[in-house]
Amino acid sequence: MMTTAEALPRDAAVGVIGAGAMGAGIAQVAAQAGHRVQLFDNRMGAADDAKAKIAQTLSTLAAKGKIAKADADAAAARIVAVHALGDMVSARLVIEAIVEDMETKRRLLRELEVVVAPDAILASNTSSLSITGLAAGMKHPGRIVGMHFFNPAPVLPLVEVVSGLATDPEVAAAIHATAKAWGKVPVHALSTPGFIVNRCARPFYGEALKMLAERVADPATIDAVMRDSGGFRMGPFELMDLLGHDVNLAVTKSVWEAYFHDPRFTPSVLQQELVAGGHLGRKSGRGFYDYAAGAIKPLPQAEARQPRPLRIRAAGESPLTMGLRERFAAAGFDVAAMPADAAIAAAYFVIDDALLVPTDGRTATTIAAAAGQPNVVVYDLAFDYATCPRLALARADPCADAAVAAAVGAVQEAGIAVTVIDDAAGLVVMRTVAMLANEAADAVTQGVADARDIDLAMRNGVNYPRGPLAWADAIGIAQVCAVLRHLAAHYGGDRYRTSPLLARRCATGARVGK
Ligand code: NAI
Repeated sequence: MMTTAEALPRDAAVGVIGAGAMGAGIAQVAAQAGHRVQLFDNRMGAADDAKAKIAQTLSTLAAKGKIAKADADAAAARIVAVHALGDMVSARLVIEAIVEDMETKRRLLRELEVVVAPDAILASNTSSLSITGLAAGMKHPGRIVGMHFFNPAPVLPLVEVVSGLATDPEVAAAIHATAKAWGKVPVHALSTPGFIVNRCARPFYGEALKMLAERVADPATIDAVMRDSGGFRMGPFELMDLLGHDVNLAVTKSVWEAYFHDPRFTPSVLQQELVAGGHLGRKSGRGFYDYAAGAIKPLPQAEARQPRPLRIRAAGESPLTMGLRERFAAAGFDVAAMPADAAIAAAYFVIDDALLVPTDGRTATTIAAAAGQPNVVVYDLAFDYATCPRLALARADPCADAAVAAAVGAVQEAGIAVTVIDDAAGLVVMRTVAMLANEAADAVTQGVADARDIDLAMRNGVNYPRGPLAWADAIGIAQVCAVLRHLAAHYGGDRYRTSPLLARRCATGARVGK
C-alpha cells in the first residue's frame, strides 16, 4: 500500500459526524492540527454541547501548561457545530463516528455522497464493521476508508487506516499522511474482522481467561505475573475490568463469529457469567475485582523465603537463561558451565538437586517424564530477566519439596519474588506472548498488515512493551514454535496451530519482526 500521498492541506475543512465520545475527540484532534471542523450530530444540542466540552478540555490543557493558551483558544474557535448535513458541502474529509450499525452508517454515507465534492474523502471510525460493506452501493466506493482512532482519541496515538476491497490506495495513503500530520501513529490495515488491534490482542484476554477457567492461578496472581514478569502495563483481568466485560465479550464474540468460530477466538464462559450477573467491571463496581469503597485488593501468590541453595550450574546457554545467569552471578553464586541434556532443554540450570528449566510449552511433569528426572521446576518468560521483579515457577508432580525449595531459594537470592502456579503448559507470560505472536504472524500471512505496522499498532494501540513479532524474534522463533507445538499437543484441537509464517521462519532461521 502507498504511504507517499500528501496530507490534507491545513486550510481544508474537516467534517465530523457524531459528537459522542469518539466524534468529539476526533474533532479536537483535527482542530488542534489547524483545520476548520464542522461537527454534526442528529441529536438536538449534542454538537453544541460537544463543542463546549472540547473548549473546556482545551482550556484545562492550557491551564496545566500542556498547550499555549492562544493555541487552545484558536483550536476551540475552529470548531463549528452545524445543524444539517448539507452544511458540510465544503468539507474535504468527513469522518463519521455515529452509532455502530451497518445500515445506519450506509444511509449516512449515501446522504453525504451527494453533499460533498466528488473527490472529498469519506472516512469511518468504525471499530468492527467491514469497510468493503460500508462502500457497497456507493457511487464512488474508492473514497470510503476506515480511519480508526482509539479511545480517548486526543490521547492515544494509534490510527488504523483501513482499506476495503474498493478503497483507492491514494485515498488510504492520503489518510495515512493526514493522521501523521495530526501527530498520530498511523498504520495500514486491510478490512478484516477486528482489523489489527482488536484481532491481535484477543489472546491477551483469551489465554488469561482459559488459565483462570483451568484454575492455574487466581486473577491477582496472573495479573501480577503479566505486569512484573511480562512487562505489560496492566494485567489482563484488571484491564478487562477497566474496559468493561460487556464490551470485551462483545468484541471477542464479533471476531469469533466473523472468523466462523475459529477456536482461537472462543469466548469465555467465565466472562459470560460475569456479564449475566451484571459484574461488568469498574463501571458496575465489580468484575474480577471488587471496587466497593473499602474493598481490599487481593494479593498475588508469593512464596515464603527459602534458604540459599549451595550450588548453581548453567547447562548450555540461550536467550532464556542469560539474564537469569547474570543475576545468579550478581547474587554471589559461582555459576559453573556444564553440557546440557537435550531431552531436558537446550539450556537450563541445575540448582542442588533441582533442574530449573525455561518453559518450552511442556508441563514440568511432561519434561520430568521425558528426561527421567523427577526434580523438574519450569520458569516463565520474562520481558527482561535482567530486571524483572517477579517470576512464575511450576513444579513437576513427582518433584521433591527440597528441590522446589532449592529452585525457589535461588531465584529469591537473585532478588526476584517467586510465584508458584499450577503446572500449566507454557505458564503465563510465555503462553500469552507465543499466542500474541502467532496471531500477529497469521495477520501478516493473510495480508492484513505488514510486520512493522502490526508491532507498531500493538505498542501504540494497547501499550504492549514490545511488538509481538519483535518479541518472538527476541525469544527465538524455534522456541516460540516449540511452545505452540507443545500447547497444541497438550490441548489437541486447532487453537494452538502454528502460523505458516512462524513455521517457515523457524525452518530458515530468519526473523519475523522488522
Ligand atoms: P457515542 O454513543 O458516544 O456517540 C455516537 C454519537 O452519534 C451520538 O452522539 C449520537 O447521537 C450520534 N448519532 C447516532 N446516529 C447518528 C446519525 N445517523 N447521524 C448523526 N449522528 C448520529 O459512540 P462512540 O463511542 O463515540 O462511538 C462512535 C463510533 O466510534 C462507533 O462506530 C464506534 O464503534 C467507534 N469507536 C468507538 C470507540 C470507543 O471506545 N467508544 C473506539 C473506536 C471506535
